[in-house]
Amino acid sequence: MRTNILVSIICISVTTLCISCRQVAPCPDSRPTTAILGAFNKEIMMLEEQLTDKHQQQIEGMRFVTGRLQDKSVVVAWTGIGKVNAAMTTTLLIEHFNPDQVIFSGIAGGVNPKLEPGDIVIAAETAHHDMGILGEDGFYNRGVINPLDGIRNPVFLLADEHLLKLAEKAAEQVELEKIKTSVGERSPRIIKGVVVTGDVFVASTEKGAELREKLNADAVEMEGAAVAQLCYQRQIPHLVVRSISDKADTTARVDSMLFQEMAAKNSAALIVKITELLSSQHPVSKSGDQEK
Ligand code: ADE
Repeated sequence: MRTNILVSIICISVTTLCISCRQVAPCPDSRPTTAILGAFNKEIMMLEEQLTDKHQQQIEGMRFVTGRLQDKSVVVAWTGIGKVNAAMTTTLLIEHFNPDQVIFSGIAGGVNPKLEPGDIVIAAETAHHDMGILGEDGFYNRGVINPLDGIRNPVFLLADEHLLKLAEKAAEQVELEKIKTSVGERSPRIIKGVVVTGDVFVASTEKGAELREKLNADAVEMEGAAVAQLCYQRQIPHLVVRSISDKADTTARVDSMLFQEMAAKNSAALIVKITELLSSQHPVSKSGDQEK
């Protein structure tokens, strides 16, 4: 009888341990890890395909892939669309992988009239365009109070300076495919700018112009500021990179279908270059440890 009870306890303990190990298996690589996120599966698959030492795991039903990109330890995840999904995935990622920086890669609607599909915006700042106060005299943007310290968040969340500099360097080095237009070919432009985020796909010329006028936005998307806010509140360096798939105007839905693949590819190419530069700053020593 006693033996039976003992065996049952051991079985239950081993099963519980196995389940929790499966759910929260640590990053196989203990070196500093860069998290790379994207809203669409396609955006993430483009990066995932380039990973070596790939390990896949499910946490709370979400898929996270660890491995090496340009010999840099990374964890890659698909957030899904919108601010809530982005916040959910980023939180899981921070809790389970403790990344030393978070980079978001993806597509956006261009509201800077100089931007065309395929061009890239490296976000020096991100802002929620739909967070604030709506009064009789209109809407004004306002950050929410950070529940971790009781201090109000700024409207504009700044990218990590080091990552930003690295991204600018990567922009000078990356080789992007030329874009075919009705008047010939052109090289994609890469600018540093403002990316604004809201839980809405903008397909309105008027709204696009408003975002440009009020927030000096270059591009609009649906996840960046949510990830930036989490990183700001948890003091984790972050960077958002977006390539233009449409111009947030009346033809945005069709254009985004036409150009999203090319835009996602361009954004991913810049991310790979950034990772390469990160890797060269912290080369792997012969013992396999990342050098400080
Ligand atoms: N992502 C790509 N295009 C977008 C748009 N026009 N609005 C919001 N998010 C987008």
